[in-house]
Parts: sequence; structure tokens; C-alpha cells
Amino acid sequence: MSSFLTHLKIIRPDDWHLHLRDGEQLKDVLLYTARQFARAVIMPNLRVPVVTTEMAQAYYTRIISALPEVLQSQFQPLMTLYLTDNTQPSEIVRAKNSGIVQAVKLYPAGATTHSDAGVTNISKCFKTLAEMEKQDIPLLVHGEVTDPNIDVFDREKMFIERTLCMLTQHFPQLRIVFEHITTRDAVEFVKQSSEKIAATITAHHLLLNRNALFQGGIRPHHYCLPILKRETHRRALLQAAVSGNAKFFLGTDSAPHALVNKEQSCGCAGIFTAHAAMELYATAFEQVDALDKLEGFASFFGADFYELPRNTDTITLRRKNWMVPERYDFAGEALIPLYADAELSWKVE
Ligand code: DOR
Ligand code: ZN
Repeated sequence: MSSFLTHLKIIRPDDWHLHLRDGEQLKDVLLYTARQFARAVIMPNLRVPVVTTEMAQAYYTRIISALPEVLQSQFQPLMTLYLTDNTQPSEIVRAKNSGIVQAVKLYPAGATTHSDAGVTNISKCFKTLAEMEKQDIPLLVHGEVTDPNIDVFDREKMFIERTLCMLTQHFPQLRIVFEHITTRDAVEFVKQSSEKIAATITAHHLLLNRNALFQGGIRPHHYCLPILKRETHRRALLQAAVSGNAKFFLGTDSAPHALVNKEQSCGCAGIFTAHAAMELYATAFEQVDALDKLEGFASFFGADFYELPRNTDTITLRRKNWMVPERYDFAGEALIPLYADAELSWKVE
């Protein structure tokens, strides 16, 4: 039925996982998100990671200052702290009282971009996690083991077995968002866990499988972490996203890197999707004739999990063919977006 839709009006969505970077780069990417979304959870993995509430407050101010005046009162960055081996329980109390820090992000040390300062052994964080459980502040996890002996395609599944199961048992009241899930295993884990456990799903993991990494040659702009998986996993993610199960909600993980840092002998991980975030999700949902499920996934379930009010204004997606530019400006460098120079058939008005 939805294939006959000419437009889709939904409550304004939120992006529950976003990389904005800083300085001139921040200025160049922020508007794409602020035009579509009311709020976004801002990842703390800057070059100098956001490890204190004070740093989160300063970053918040830089984000608001980078917005045009009309949007300053409309777009709300939801800040996060970067968990380290040394994050103290007192920092969690400060974060909670700040009113701007919504969550704490766990990067296993070495798992991804700017994760060197991440957690080397989760047991070092138990006191802090206990305080988070007490303060009811969610833990956001990059769910991959960093053990070099584990196959890169199995690192998420292994993280569930080695870390996530243990965390949910030790801290049963801790809210956890399993970020950017990529496997059927993660979908099953989240479904069978308590209501404290939820997951975000990116547009790129809904649209692409691992063949996209090697389409006629190596494709650095399809490289992200967790890495794209097999088609069976993509299908499981899409089924979860359109299922109406409120444990699964939108998080783009839009992660801009300059072309020069992607097209390298050792290129950075990250896919930029903010330029067409809702259009990309609509494309994925339409593949399984489930556009009617987009609003819950994009606009309701995340807010409910974070215990924040749902938005009240709306956006309209219109069926309209348009070409994604082949590049955007990124602090004087080129930024290659997902679907560069390709056609999309939805456009946010
Ligand atoms: O592909 C990714 N890029 N995955 C991450 O976890 C981090 C992100 C980034 O910051 O570039
Ligand atoms: Zn991310």
C-alpha cells in the first residue's frame, strides 16, 4: 500500500547517535542534521575526548553557536560523556545534575575512531557503572571486542558473549543502548533482554551488505565500524527496524571524514549520511513496504527509551527524485556522502 504514497508526514524525528566533530568541520555538517531532526545524541569521540561534564558543556555551547540563530532554539544537542578507565562516580553525579548530559559512551579501547582513551577492561568501570545505574543514566555501547584474534566480522557477536551478557547481569537496572547493531545475533540479544536494553540501527546497515565494500574494487566510503555484514544480517536488521518493537530506534551514526582520510592505504572508518538521513531510512523502509512503521522508529521509540518528551511538530517526506551531490565541503576538504552522485526518491521538504 505504501508504494502509492506521494508524501509522508510524520512527527519530527530525533537522531539517537551522531558524530558532529568540531570547529569548521562541525559548522559544515551540523545544518544537515538540524534541518531534519529536533534532537541528536552527540558522540564524545573528539580528538580530545569529552570526558567531563565541563567539557560536554563547552562542546554543547560550540554546537549551539555553530547554528544559525533561527535554529538555536529549535535543535537540541543531547550530550554524552566518554567513559574511560578513570571516570569517577562523582563525574556521573555531575553529569546527571548538569541537565545537558544524557548518556555515557563506552568505547572499548582501540575499537574505532578516537577510541584510544577508551576502556581497557570493563571491570575497571564497575563503580562508575553502579553509579550510572543508581542515577539512571544510560550507557551507550560500541559493541565490538578489540581482540585482534577475533575475525572482524565476528567482533559484535563476541562482544555480546564476553561483555554485554555480563553487564546486563551485574547491572540489571542500568539502561543500555547497544549502538549501531549489525547482526542477527544483536537483534536476538536485544529482543530477549529486559526492557532496559535497546538498540540503534543506522541507515547504511539497513541499505548495504558487505558486498558494498568490494563492488568492482575496494570502496573506502562504505567502510565503517562495526563493518557491514552479510545480507542475512541486513535483513534481520531491517525486520527489527520495521517490526514496531520499541527497543529498536533510529541512530544514524553519521560519521564524516575528509576524502583524503578515507582514500588512504589505511583509511578511516565512518560513513556520512546526515545529508539525507531520513531519505535513506525511507528508502530502506520502502524496500519492505513498511513506510507506515517509520514514524515509530524515527520519532517515538528513542524518546520513550530516553524518557524524554516526544516531539510535537512534523516533517514531510515527499516522493521526488533527486541526485545526491558527489561531494560536500568539509572545512575546505571534500566529504563524500552515502549515495554520492546517485538518485534518491524521497526528499524532506
Ligand atoms: O565507522 C565509525 N566511525 N564507527 C565508529 O564507531 C566511529 C565513527 C567515527 O567517529 O568516525
Ligand atoms: Zn558512532
